[in-house]
Amino acid sequence: MDRNIGITLCLMLKLCYQDHTMSETHCPARCHCFTPTRAICSEERMLTMPRNISQVRELVVMTTGLSYLDTNTFQENPRLAKLVFLNNLLREVSVRAFDPLPGLEELEISGNSWLERLYPGTFRKQVNLTRLLLNFNRFQTVTPGIFDSLQNLETLQLKGNLISHLPGLLFQNLTSLRSLDLSQNALTRVDRELLTGLTQLETLILGYNQITGLSPDSFHNVSQMRELYLDGNKISDLPHGIFSNLTKLEVLSLRGNLITNVSHRTFPFSLKELNLNNNKLSELSFNPFTSLTALTQLYLSSNRLHELPVDLLRNLTALQVVDLSDNQLTSLPEEIFMELSDIKVVHLHNNNLSSIKPRLFEHQVLLEQLYLSQNNLQNLPLGLLDYFLSENMIRLHGNPWNCDCNIQYMYDWMGENHRYVEDLSKMLCAGPVPLRGQSLASVHRDQLVCPMQRSPQPSHCTLHTDNDTLIIKCKVDKCSPLKLKVQLYEDDGRTAEYIFKNETSQCSNSTITV
Ligand SMILES: *[C@@H]1O[C@H](CO)[C@@H](O)[C@H](O)[C@H]1NC(C)=O
Ligand SMILES: *[C@@H]1O[C@H](CO)[C@@H](O)[C@H](O)[C@H]1NC(C)=O
Ligand SMILES: *[C@@H]1O[C@H](CO)[C@@H](O)[C@H](O)[C@H]1NC(C)=O
Ligand SMILES: *[C@@H]1O[C@H](CO)[C@@H](O)[C@H](O)[C@H]1NC(C)=O
Ligand SMILES: *[C@@H]1O[C@H](CO)[C@@H](O)[C@H](O)[C@H]1NC(C)=O
Ligand SMILES: *[C@@H]1O[C@H](CO)[C@@H](O)[C@H](O)[C@H]1NC(C)=O
Ligand SMILES: *[C@@H]1O[C@H](CO)[C@@H](O)[C@H](O)[C@H]1NC(C)=O
Ligand SMILES: *[C@@H]1O[C@H](CO)[C@@H](O)[C@H](O)[C@H]1NC(C)=O
Ligand SMILES: *[C@@H]1O[C@H](CO)[C@@H](O)[C@H](O)[C@H]1NC(C)=O
Ligand SMILES: *[C@@H]1O[C@H](CO)[C@@H](O)[C@H](O)[C@H]1NC(C)=O
Ligand SMILES: *[C@@H]1O[C@H](CO)[C@@H](O)[C@H](O)[C@H]1NC(C)=O
Repeated sequence: MDRNIGITLCLMLKLCYQDHTMSETHCPARCHCFTPTRAICSEERMLTMPRNISQVRELVVMTTGLSYLDTNTFQENPRLAKLVFLNNLLREVSVRAFDPLPGLEELEISGNSWLERLYPGTFRKQVNLTRLLLNFNRFQTVTPGIFDSLQNLETLQLKGNLISHLPGLLFQNLTSLRSLDLSQNALTRVDRELLTGLTQLETLILGYNQITGLSPDSFHNVSQMRELYLDGNKISDLPHGIFSNLTKLEVLSLRGNLITNVSHRTFPFSLKELNLNNNKLSELSFNPFTSLTALTQLYLSSNRLHELPVDLLRNLTALQVVDLSDNQLTSLPEEIFMELSDIKVVHLHNNNLSSIKPRLFEHQVLLEQLYLSQNNLQNLPLGLLDYFLSENMIRLHGNPWNCDCNIQYMYDWMGENHRYVEDLSKMLCAGPVPLRGQSLASVHRDQLVCPMQRSPQPSHCTLHTDNDTLIIKCKVDKCSPLKLKVQLYEDDGRTAEYIFKNETSQCSNSTITV
């Protein structure tokens, strides 16, 4: 193996404590020893295990041509505590191969695209094994009883195989197991029998399988669980009470499933992070999140939400992140965030919001990130952004901003806070016609005017020119307080201002002509 590769691997695998040249002399052929007890063997031409590595306690064998581990492979190496096979060509592992290694604590056999099975009894001597990683092989199932001797096992990974079925009670003796990763397989169901015995299990990763249904008691006997990942499956329904025994669950990810409805009391009160991104939720009535008072992160992005109930987030007083992006929301109840005074991140981008209520963020003084980009907003109401105490990043681009007098509040806010507006130059005016397509930041404040016929209401004014005279005719109601202000700018910046007002005390309908 090339020296530089050796050093790179040494850094990568954190195997190098001492001067890596020191112990080369003790090292088996075709291997590198970074210390007398740690070796990496990586050479495509290596077809058998290196001999004479009796000093070695930690051995990594990667990208070799090794295809069998037979009965004699480890006869001379009873001191091995950590053994890693990565990306080799293993086809078969003898049931006796690991018998000489009863002190083995960590074993990885991963990335063998020919390895289809391990025999029952393969790990029968490994009573002290704490980590067993069997990822990215070609297992379609796992033989019953193969893990029964591993009562000290804490981590088991079987990810990236082709497993569509696992025998019941497979993990029944794994009473020390804390983390189980079965992701990226082809499992279609998970039942209570499979998880039997995992009384200490804290993390269960079942992402990216084909799980369609879960039974109501699937997770009833794994009550120590803290993190449950079910992402990327085909779950459409969460049976009533499915999580009811998981009173310590803090992280639940159901991202990328087909869930259409979540109901009251589905989720355990202990939850801190709930991810429902990329499902098919179209309504959230029935207070599904009530009582999740510990929840800090709620992800509801990429669903089909059109509207939200006013009390959806009520009681979620610990919430810090809420992601409602990529839905079809057209408006939000003004009180929706009312009690969320700790909230730091609000994502509302990629919706269809056409207006926002002025006091929507009244209590969100600590907001750090507000994304309103890619909506249907024409302006922001007066005062909306005045509540924030901390500096926050805000995204506003991708809205059809109407750059008339009604946008002056937002324009002024941007002027003072432009450092915090991301993609400022992408904020374009969709109207009025003369400003269409221009970046709002490039428009002069004086250009943000409202057409006469629209203001002031309810009078009706018309504008026309006659020779050098501009004529404004306004129909005003009785006692209208209408004033006409005329500002004339000269090239040198001087301004002349004229105000016209009918001061007569008698109120009657009339036409003012300037
Ligand atoms: C095994 O390695 C030791 C040094 O660690 C050496 O003295 C001995 O000759 C080697 N034996 C074989 C069979 O290679
Ligand atoms: C297993 O670990 C225990 C405690 O560390 C130790 O006493 C025992 O000898 C180990 N067993 C084997 C077979 O190495
Ligand atoms: C499984 O665990 C039980 C005790 O919980 C033990 O009696 C049995 O021997 C274990 N099975 C194996 C194959 O070690
Ligand atoms: C579930 O756990 C209870 C008590 O912890 C036990 O009595 C029961 O047999 C277990 N059921 C299954 C299917 O594991
Ligand atoms: C789990 O739930 C079942 C049924 O709901 C119950 O009988 C059992 O006692 C619960 N187990 C634990 C450990 O909470
Ligand atoms: C959602 O669930 C609730 C009760 O859990 C039910 O009343 C409601 O009809 C469901 N909505 C849809 C659209 O299925
Ligand atoms: C908020 O929680 C209290 C109890 O903690 C409960 O009575 C109330 O119904 C909850 N509010 C909502 C809107 O769910
Ligand atoms: C956006 O909302 C408007 C009404 O405000 C509606 O007409 C339009 O169809 C919505 N667009 C989408 C893509 O939902
Ligand atoms: C406008 O100019 C035309 C001729 O240039 C004149 O006939 C007309 O009286 C003028 N109108 C007013 C309102 O001054
Ligand atoms: C004010 O309006 C009254 C009719 O209500 C009209 O007679 C009067 O001339 C107007 N004054 C001015 C200054 O236009
Ligand atoms: C003034 O106009 C309003 C409607 O524009 C009408 O309802 C009202 O009767 C009018 N008052 C007078 C004194 O003409």
